[in-house]
Amino acid sequence: MPRIPLEDNFNDVINKAQRGLKISDEELSKLSEVSPEDLTAAKAGSPNYGVIRRLARHLRLSPDALEVLAKKRWYPKQPVFPRSFAAFNTPHEDMTVNSYLIWDPRDRSAAAFDTGANCEEMLSLISAEKLNLHYIFLTHTHPDHIAALPQLAAATKAQVWSSELEPVDFPGARTFKENAHFHLGSLAIKTLLTSGHSPGQTTFYVTGLSWPLAIVGDSIFASSMGSSPTHHSEQWRNDREKILVLPRDTVLACGHGPLTTVAQERENNPFFAHPKPVNKPSTPNVPDNEHA
Ligand SMILES: [Fe+2]
Repeated sequence: MPRIPLEDNFNDVINKAQRGLKISDEELSKLSEVSPEDLTAAKAGSPNYGVIRRLARHLRLSPDALEVLAKKRWYPKQPVFPRSFAAFNTPHEDMTVNSYLIWDPRDRSAAAFDTGANCEEMLSLISAEKLNLHYIFLTHTHPDHIAALPQLAAATKAQVWSSELEPVDFPGARTFKENAHFHLGSLAIKTLLTSGHSPGQTTFYVTGLSWPLAIVGDSIFASSMGSSPTHHSEQWRNDREKILVLPRDTVLACGHGPLTTVAQERENNPFFAHPKPVNKPSTPNVPDNEHA
């Protein structure tokens, strides 16, 4: 698959954080001692690193990670699954959306996570690998993630499952609660409620593949997170408490943008990276985590 660009630029991260924390331009400008003109320019994508760092401190973002993002110096190392995992990236309006397929290599049972804007490529792989699609799991029901649901469900007769808290309008769809378990041959799938971006948004934690895998929908992206103007803190908390606590080598398969890992996001995501220790050994009270 061609390299998928990061979903968000540094200014998207600034805008998401500001909207989520409900801080007005006026307030942010005053708090961070950034002029209204410089603030407007930064929010539009002008990379003035001094300004960006000052804004980060008042938006609960890591100044270092935000600066690295602005300098386009980081892209997640791509984990490789030798088998039993496939990612699909399909265009939807002015963006692209991801969907995923996993399967047990022995009994060929498979599960899809979201459908993408179209499912042609997924259906071809199901047929080429002689898979039997048992489940279509929905991370959430925003239109880009389920655009091909009628086609995929009709072609495979798979069961459609989503959280009981997510609005779902599909005949025959079944719902699960948080911490539900599914089995697919030798693979185990556990549902984690990582709401915020949508009310029942779910992360599916899969074990039994080459790496632990979390299919996170729009909960978190490489270097960013899904937007949630109304439930930003809930999304942030769920990401921190339910996703970033998974084993460090867990692969994060996001709804948009490239694959990443827990370890890489803990280090590089401006919303979650711990700031590097401040070089002031004589000041013992400098917090090492601005999010705390
Ligand atoms: Fe979404």
